[in-house]
Amino acid sequence: MWPVVAVLGTIALATSAAPVPAPLPPSSVADSLAAPPPVAALLQRACYDCHSEQSRWPWYARVAPVSWLLARDVREGRKQVNFSRWNTYSPTTRRHKLQWMGRVIRNGSMPPLLYRVVHRDARLSANERAMLERWIAVEIAKTS
Ligand code: HEC
Repeated sequence: MWPVVAVLGTIALATSAAPVPAPLPPSSVADSLAAPPPVAALLQRACYDCHSEQSRWPWYARVAPVSWLLARDVREGRKQVNFSRWNTYSPTTRRHKLQWMGRVIRNGSMPPLLYRVVHRDARLSANERAMLERWIAVEIAKTS
């Protein structure tokens, strides 16, 4: 037992100084994704921790091995969809990402289950899903 605690403690200390990426100033995010305020607020609440450069890092994000899992989620999430870089995507790329978003909203795979368990406010109601789907349809129409 104690050796395990000691090892975990050492890992936690060794990684507690791991650099957490600094968030971008909020204005650049608002500029990047020109969504109506209710849609923007919803995405910020439920998606931005992993799909933007505005991740709110909880204190346990600094403690290994949780820190590794979170960092991986955020790295992978941003790679797929990064709302902070939305205005750098070409219309075709945007369309693809919007189509993926429609799919994950419909099949309920995002936000990931574990995240929904920890962050109760990230759960989407039926109305909120409908609002996102309408916005996605409008945005897809703009790209063609
Ligand atoms: C806890 C972190 C986290 C949150 C919060 C989160 N995602 Fe993700 N998302 C990921 C990760 C990791 C991936 C890449 C791996 C995968 O596909 O599971 C991903 C992939 C995606 C993809 C592309 C791949 C696919 O599965 O089609 C879309 C689209 C997406 N997320 C949309 C969203 C939306 C919309 C929200 C908010 C409603 C959201 N995500 C919230 C972590 C997150």
